[in-house]
Amino acid sequence: MSDAAIYQIYPRSFKDSTGSGLGDIAGITQQMDYLEQLGIEAIWLSPFYPSPLVDGGYDVADYCDVDPRLGSLDDFDDMIAAAHARGIKVIVDIVPNHSSNQHPWFKAALAAGPGSPERARYIFRDGRGEHGELPPTNWNANFGGPAWTRVADGQWYLHMFTPEQPDFDWSCPEVHAFFCDVLAFWSDRGVDGFRIDVAHGLAKDLDRDDLDRWHLAEGDDMVDDGTHPLWDRNEVHEIYREWRRVFDRYNPPRSAVAEAWVLPERQYLYARPSELGQTFNFEFAKAIWTYDDMHAAIEEGLKAAIESDSASTWVLSNHDVPRVATRYALPQIKATRYHQIALDWLLRDGSSYDEDRELGERRARAALLLELALPGSAYVYQGEELGLFEVADIPWAALEDPTATNTHGPKREKGRDGCRVPLPWVAADDPTQGGSFGFSPADADAAPHLPQPAWFSDYAADREEADPTSMLALYRDALWLRRKLHGCANDLAWLDLDGRTGLADGAEGAEGGVIAYRRDNGWACVTNFGAAPVELPAGRVLLTSSPLADGRLAQDSSAWIMLGEI
Ligand code: NOJ
Repeated sequence: MSDAAIYQIYPRSFKDSTGSGLGDIAGITQQMDYLEQLGIEAIWLSPFYPSPLVDGGYDVADYCDVDPRLGSLDDFDDMIAAAHARGIKVIVDIVPNHSSNQHPWFKAALAAGPGSPERARYIFRDGRGEHGELPPTNWNANFGGPAWTRVADGQWYLHMFTPEQPDFDWSCPEVHAFFCDVLAFWSDRGVDGFRIDVAHGLAKDLDRDDLDRWHLAEGDDMVDDGTHPLWDRNEVHEIYREWRRVFDRYNPPRSAVAEAWVLPERQYLYARPSELGQTFNFEFAKAIWTYDDMHAAIEEGLKAAIESDSASTWVLSNHDVPRVATRYALPQIKATRYHQIALDWLLRDGSSYDEDRELGERRARAALLLELALPGSAYVYQGEELGLFEVADIPWAALEDPTATNTHGPKREKGRDGCRVPLPWVAADDPTQGGSFGFSPADADAAPHLPQPAWFSDYAADREEADPTSMLALYRDALWLRRKLHGCANDLAWLDLDGRTGLADGAEGAEGGVIAYRRDNGWACVTNFGAAPVELPAGRVLLTSSPLADGRLAQDSSAWIMLGEI
């Protein structure tokens, strides 16, 4: 999996086979030909487990089953067989930091009372104050609100996310054994790999007296020595060494990738071959579209991969961040919080800045070629291949994401639903006439779980399939070409052409420049951020993100070239 292109499926919004308005596992099986034609080598499924869906399924009530609304284990087996028959590997999401409060273990913990072995699986503490009425620490949770919730007998439990997502206590041996069994359960079913949610949060050190000095939310006081009480502690790596022993029981060994929002210089620890093998490098997803930012993102990613002796991973977007085409369509201004411009724009239903879609699409096309030629694996988030933009104007009443609905307080944040709207497959299946752009079958009982905007018809898969200039056509061409070219050494060399222009000709007046690198088989990628078109190095042009003008590469465009060939 170290150099694969992996397609992320957010199951509830991919394809609904039953008419319930929720995407499901059989829907994925139905679209397997589409996935095969796209040219991806693996799919990663965000959680599909039984869940109250307080946090889009990242609140798991049963780790070894399929949510009945999304199908059954038999459907899962059919899906995996269909994927494997086409040579597509399957990765599932493991959520080990917390469960749902509907998980039998948490229910048992509440019933059993303070000091019981059942409570030892979660993080229960007595409160402070004369009657324990104050939470054990002053922490706020990641989605806002206090990180501790009090239960009827007066104790408090810790939750890094919503109150419905109690954190496991990883110092409890039962928790270790349980997750080894979960990994084995899915591996036995033929799953090829795992994406590990909040991989940097499992180990915690709560038995010290300086806890109020630290923050839980957003890891904004991350340190580089593993001494934070909550995030990126050194002991977390013992867990992953234990998991590696499970992965290595299988042939081929199961793969894993860590979701770890840690300092770039600590990413490699998770990716060591003796642990998870790969870690998401989010530098691209965080970067703005300027030469400096994108170049630095590549350098950070490569450095982390070299340090861990693993392959890098490249991510432009996922289910947690505003869609890449929209990010690039908005002003490219660096802020202390990633995506601040897009988040502000979302909060105002897309009215506070001009979303220049033509520009956003042009840059997203260029970014794709820039990303896919890099060594390592690349993750494509569903809908990215259609060039979907963020849906900014979902009515507040229709939002599902807890970051919008209940934790940050009234209308402080619009949340992540705008990138989770059910996909448009068929342009003509008009929602104003009861359709769903082909997301649900014709006789559906319910509308898609999030409303689809009318403009989705322009981005429907069938329409783009018929258009050789569409985003989908570019993704297919690039992904298939990548498969042919990618089997070279895991290296990258910068070309002489690479560098800044010295002129303020990039996005919003930033200094322009050209990112230009080659792989050892002569495959080169050139991306122009500057206003002046650039000459390409000598070679055969394989693919461009926008047409060349007099053989030169215009601003916000990328080209793939086979150096030295004519
Ligand atoms: C990261 C997941 O990607 C996100 O969607 C989720 O809300 C949090 N982890 C909590 O599980």
